[in-house]
Amino acid sequence: MDRKNRQWLLARRPQGMVSADDFRWVETAAPTPAEGEVLVHNLWLSCDPTQRGWIAGDTYLPAVKIDEVVRSFAVGEVVESRHPKFQPGQLVQGLFGWQDYACVKSGTPSSPSHLPPGVPIETAMSALGLTGITAYYGLLDVGRPKPGETVVVSGAAGATGSAVGQIAKIKGCRAIGIAGGAEKCRWLTEDYGFDAAIDYKSEDVGARLRELCPKGIDVFFDNVGGEILDAALAREREELRSEELSQPAHPARAHGRLHHP
Ligand SMILES: NC(=O)c1ccc[n+]([C@@H]2O[C@H](COP(=O)([O-])OP(=O)(O)OC[C@H]3O[C@@H](n4cnc5c(N)ncnc54)[C@H](OP(=O)(O)O)[C@@H]3O)[C@@H](O)[C@H]2O)c1
Repeated sequence: MDRKNRQWLLARRPQGMVSADDFRWVETAAPTPAEGEVLVHNLWLSCDPTQRGWIAGDTYLPAVKIDEVVRSFAVGEVVESRHPKFQPGQLVQGLFGWQDYACVKSGTPSSPSHLPPGVPIETAMSALGLTGITAYYGLLDVGRPKPGETVVVSGAAGATGSAVGQIAKIKGCRAIGIAGGAEKCRWLTEDYGFDAAIDYKSEDVGARLRELCPKGIDVFFDNVGGEILDAALAREREELRSEELSQPAHPARAHGRLHHP
């Protein structure tokens, strides 16, 4: 069957803000899967901050090459399979890129994996996907908050931050979010159950943290770095700071109960 594959390729490495000229649109025929490969028809693409890094240069993955399809998480439907574990009609997720059809293989960075049965695609790509996993393990494995402790999260209205605040609440913590703008802050406290929100665009973050965390911050989950990270480190609970200073600088402890993805 002739299948047209619309693709966005990386035309050049962006300088500063990403622009449409950094990408190039091409139309080709969809590939035919070889032995062991699966042809996936993309249904949903995920838009993640990490993609900015992938098109800029090498990160934890090699950089997307110029003239290569832009890398992206996606969910799609198997339309042809030459792999025994995948059948046409099944929903799969993986790094399928900005294109209609991806020809992918197990054991590679773009390896497909089945969607959990019965889980809506949006949920599989968000709360039960990479974002939820990042929030869950970052907060619970690295942050290790105890009930009653104060968890502060930056980028709190974002994908990861909003999940972190909600998990903190489920674990019986006090959740304070830092976000840009009154509307996002209202959303955090009224819709997402955060105990308080700081609008870093109109408020003094350091002063508000002193007010809201008089005994200091127990766990800071950082999504943004920079001045907000500095302000939060200055409010880290005194006992934690001295505990860290008295410990040898083991890499697992060096971040203490500070999480930066
Ligand atoms: N999503 C994932 O699966 C995942 C996995 C691993 C790591 N991470 C990392 O986690 C972090 C957050 O990712 P995300 O997917 O949650 O992003 P996101 O939904 O895009 O949220 C990021 C938020 O950060 C805020 N922000 C941006 N620049 C800022 C600045 N200079 N100062 C203060 N706030 C700023 C913006 O909100 P305001 O409007 O409030 O400023 C933005 O909406 C990123 O560092 C990302 O690389 C994410």
